[in-house]
Amino acid sequence: MTKKLLFLSALCLSAFSGLQAQTRLNLDLTKGVNVSPKLYGLMTEEINHSYDGGLYAELIRNRVFKDNPNQPDGWSVVQDGDSKASIQLIGADPANVPFDQGRNAINAALTTCLKLTVSQTNGNRAGIANSGFWGIPVTPSTTYRCSFYIKTGTVNFPRGNRPDAAPPATAVTEDGPGIINISLESTDGKTTYARGTINLEKSMYWKKHELTITTAANIKPTADARFVISSTRTGTYYFNLVSLFPPTYKNRPNGNRIDLMQMMADMKPTFLRFPGGNFLEGPYLGDAFPWKTTLGPLEQRPGHTGSWGYRASDGMGLLEFLEWCEDLKMEPLLAVFAGYSLRGDHIDAGPLLEPYVKDALDEIEYCIGDTKTYWGAKRAADGHPAPFKLTDIEIGNEDWFDRSHSYDGRFKQFQAAIKAKYPQLRCISTIESYKPDKVTSVKPQMVDEHYYQSAWQMEEDAAKYDSYDRATSPKIFVGEWATREGAPTTNLNAALGDAAWMTGMERNSDLVERSCYAPLFVNVNQAGNGQPKAWQWDSDLIGYTALKSYGSPSYYVQKMFGSYLGTKVVPITAENAPLRKPAVKDTAGIGHWPANARRPKAERAALFFVCTQDAKNVYLKVVNTDDMAREITISLKGGDVAANGTLVILKGDKPEDTNTIDEPNKIVPVTSTITGLGRSFKHTFQPYSVNVIRLSKRK
Ligand code: AHR
Repeated sequence: MTKKLLFLSALCLSAFSGLQAQTRLNLDLTKGVNVSPKLYGLMTEEINHSYDGGLYAELIRNRVFKDNPNQPDGWSVVQDGDSKASIQLIGADPANVPFDQGRNAINAALTTCLKLTVSQTNGNRAGIANSGFWGIPVTPSTTYRCSFYIKTGTVNFPRGNRPDAAPPATAVTEDGPGIINISLESTDGKTTYARGTINLEKSMYWKKHELTITTAANIKPTADARFVISSTRTGTYYFNLVSLFPPTYKNRPNGNRIDLMQMMADMKPTFLRFPGGNFLEGPYLGDAFPWKTTLGPLEQRPGHTGSWGYRASDGMGLLEFLEWCEDLKMEPLLAVFAGYSLRGDHIDAGPLLEPYVKDALDEIEYCIGDTKTYWGAKRAADGHPAPFKLTDIEIGNEDWFDRSHSYDGRFKQFQAAIKAKYPQLRCISTIESYKPDKVTSVKPQMVDEHYYQSAWQMEEDAAKYDSYDRATSPKIFVGEWATREGAPTTNLNAALGDAAWMTGMERNSDLVERSCYAPLFVNVNQAGNGQPKAWQWDSDLIGYTALKSYGSPSYYVQKMFGSYLGTKVVPITAENAPLRKPAVKDTAGIGHWPANARRPKAERAALFFVCTQDAKNVYLKVVNTDDMAREITISLKGGDVAANGTLVILKGDKPEDTNTIDEPNKIVPVTSTITGLGRSFKHTFQPYSVNVIRLSKRK
């Protein structure tokens, strides 16, 4: 553009803004409904490798060899120099599993092992290698905890023989005992980052070995690494439950990744909805989240078929979910399986549903029963005698998908049983009140509403709850929602849509008691090195690889909204504010996310705002989706504030701007001091921006 043109357009712009009537927001500090103390929480499930290859810190992929019955996914054979070796999956004889400890099974949960046959070494290494979840993170001065089961031979029990009987004469043992090497090394095997050894005895019986290995201080962080167990002797070796953990959050054994836990802590979430989502239900009836086999030592956890195309290790089990809540001071919001699975199978209300109801009651007892109860005692035996706190139980997930229309009866049956035993618990229906299949035979105290939409739709719907009838509506739990623009994580436009939508939830938080964005996590690895693409669902909140993590612009909006929240909503009247027209017809719900077509400017410019206060501060949130700055006069009624306050702003040059694993900080909030505040002040809100102004009340 020439200088002359630039000058002319600047002239036009100032003429235009000169014509703009002054926008005013009048804040009334004397009134306002209470803000729900549980307004912002988290939603989680095993999707996009959220746990295995994500939050759950285990670094070994396919540690119990059950991911694929045809091949040992994640594992390869190591043959250094002219050594010769092969690996093979060995499944236990299913008919013989309970008595098969001496053979291939360790117990009824760990029934598949990996056999390594080393036929030649000439002093070189041969062994097994695991490539982790798209690599293994190696960082300086880091201690890793390794453990694995190993044996050198197998016992040819006649079918049905008891393992405690003396080994029969046909027992077969081979070479192999001696030193076994454990190493964390580069994928090409040329650099060793950490190493250790165990002394393997000649044994046909499984033995667990545990050790720690530590990296040197001078290594460069990398995920281009593998975990190797090797020997320089010929022989036959059997492996099971191979595990490797880096340091975890709060040092919990079987714990979580530190960086991801910290990112969640920074959002100040008040609850965690788990274990799904679709992961609760599973594709078929037998695939629902099997909470009972997710308890206790890892040896008792066979894992199960997930809902997103890969098997779940269940290292993230029921107690781990609850401890995750404890670590981040969140209340658990447990969803119980309610007899409907993803491919459409269902159990009608009545006697056939009773075992599922009983299972849910047991699960609740595990969470909140005292230690005199059966499941409370089990929780204590698992290391957590103190009961957890539960307020709300969700009955199923997205049951409007159930074409048999059986949810009404199922919900009623679950609610009656839960209320009979735990009258203090609220049961959440998973069908919105405006859907045809909503529960009618009883009145749910709370309903879960899900919204996955474009930014445009989120903005159109931002005022949705303003008109909900408080007298007739159940309380609302927005249990899954997201502006779906950007992949794998969202872009700035999505963050603007999110923020607009959140102003509506916050303003109506007497009604919208809880909300949580979904999905929370995404492993952003593309397919490579024999591993498939890591994610199944676009537009997620927090992205990561084995080594690094980052927040999407939407993540920062969540953080800003969660961190600056009062206890009372401050009513606002607006003058000359460009407001987005509500949707002409209700497009809400799953399945509507057309591209956010650029609309005519007159329609596009929009402001969204909400204000809350507590005893000390006033928190004003303003979202400007326009490509132009807007000056606003802000006036307070019923209180005065200090001249200096805090401004937190998230903005970008273009709606498409985003953060990535390699450029994680393009769109991040910036905090500064804002001056000249008082009963009435002006502030210019930047284009494409989400703003929080914290005003300090004068005594
Ligand atoms: O968040 C992704 C999926 O969307 C959830 O598993 C399901 O509940 C919804 O359809």
